[in-house]
Amino acid sequence: MRSIDYPPRLSLARLPTPFQPLDRLSEQLGGPRIWVKRDDLTDCALSGNKIRKLEFTLARALEQGCDTLVTCGGVQSNHCRATAILGAQLGLKVHLILRNEGRNEERREGVTNDIPDGNLFLDYLCGAQVSLYEKKKFQHDLPELFDHWCKYYQASGRKPYTIPTGASDGTGVWGYVHCVPELIADFDKTGINPRTIFHATGSGGTQAGLTAGAALYQLAVNIIGIAVCDNEQYFQNKVRADIEQWQSLYGVELEPSSITIQVDDRYVGPGYAQATAEVFDTIRHLASLEGVIFDPIYTGKAFHGMIDKIRRGELDGQSDIVFIHTGGIFGLLSQRDFLSI
Ligand SMILES: Cc1ncc(COP(=O)(O)O)c(C=O)c1O
Repeated sequence: MRSIDYPPRLSLARLPTPFQPLDRLSEQLGGPRIWVKRDDLTDCALSGNKIRKLEFTLARALEQGCDTLVTCGGVQSNHCRATAILGAQLGLKVHLILRNEGRNEERREGVTNDIPDGNLFLDYLCGAQVSLYEKKKFQHDLPELFDHWCKYYQASGRKPYTIPTGASDGTGVWGYVHCVPELIADFDKTGINPRTIFHATGSGGTQAGLTAGAALYQLAVNIIGIAVCDNEQYFQNKVRADIEQWQSLYGVELEPSSITIQVDDRYVGPGYAQATAEVFDTIRHLASLEGVIFDPIYTGKAFHGMIDKIRRGELDGQSDIVFIHTGGIFGLLSQRDFLSI
């Protein structure tokens, strides 16, 4: 296997994650064998894909002598929750700029009328400073909000490090480049040679890492990101931009023709963080059939999309298909009302 010159990385996730078949589901579908890369098991509360990117992002923050992390996301952001927990583990202050999906007024730090749920609950529990902004203000003023909070910490003698949405940038790309040799070892061990890997795509970093990693390690496989928001063109641009930034930051050379970005945007449904009844049915079905828990914001939507594609015959002729389970359980807890259990 090609030897790659990785930048500094903190060893934070429980790796390698398990790789397992969902044989009862495959039997029900009468289709290919479905394998799951269990990145929901990268840790307990740190569960999910963000920790892989943050291993590289936080190494860079520490290298630069930063003591405060400023990042952003939706109110139920898994990335923000992972950053809050890792900040506490590493003794770094964390400030989260969050987009309030449902309410119009700005909530003051730590003051809420209702009880914080899911990821937001863990953000508070781990001592992160939280600033919640109304959706319009967040979308319009995000660079100014980052600037405001960075200046605020600088004025008090701290050194902030800013992390973009989902830690998806040139540094975060390393997280899933680093996962590719793990996948190759999984395939060798189980004796499979899959042609397709599916995963949920939200801020593009997982897809950028897997796509760049497959090119670097010459893994001939189709990596298909199922969009959970935005459209195909958005992800084509975003994933390419992350890969280009990664190449220029770290001097990585790749044949442009070795980078193929594949996105399926047919399963976004009503919008980000909103799922259809069919997605909730898939979540319920997989939980009781296989004991694997998906969420309605990312993995449930993407897994539902993959099953739909299998049912439509789009993957006919393929014996093994891989799904990267990128976590999200706390987002499911925040939407438990939709499951009427
Ligand atoms: C659970 C989960 N799965 C998938 C994704 C998508 O990953 P990415 O943001 O790297 O596209 C995210 C975050 O956006 C996530 O929290």
